[in-house]
Amino acid sequence: MPSPASSTATASDKAERYADTRRRIDALLDGPTDWVSAMATVACELHHSFDHYDWTGFYRAVSDDELLVGPYQGPHGCLHIDVDQGVCGAAARTRETQLWPDVSKAPDHIACQSSTQSEIVVPVLTPDDALLAVLDVDSDTLGAFDPTDREHLEALCRDLGEQFGDTELRR
Ligand code: SME
Repeated sequence: MPSPASSTATASDKAERYADTRRRIDALLDGPTDWVSAMATVACELHHSFDHYDWTGFYRAVSDDELLVGPYQGPHGCLHIDVDQGVCGAAARTRETQLWPDVSKAPDHIACQSSTQSEIVVPVLTPDDALLAVLDVDSDTLGAFDPTDREHLEALCRDLGEQFGDTELRR
């Protein structure tokens, strides 16, 4: 059953679940690892913790103007996104979280899956302000993401940017 989405779960249920998920992620990443392994682990843990997550993954900033798909869970994603396109591109360009309760209102949303109804995209920045990647979460439910998702995903991405700030993935 595809619930609870944010409309049915209370904010505190959701916050608690984020806290549990975060504890697991931190424990898993507390050892020898690298950025690719970390992205794969984060995508897996998030995706399987929340019923309102239908596509969960990373697009890597491989140059100033392109994003390439990284580890993800869910149906296939677009392989390549120009930074001047889509909601992921907007997050990469502005370095700000993009939260769209209804993707049909997003002027240049790229519909990798026609079932997507809402999404949140959070940039992963290093302490030097370099863009490592964006974390993209798509939902088949309208209005699935709210300030609780935003707060927890931004905190996670901030910490990932610090932990993996030395990574060189550009080509
Ligand atoms: N949501 C994205 C495209 C990526 S896929 O949906 C996985 C966008 O508009 O940038």
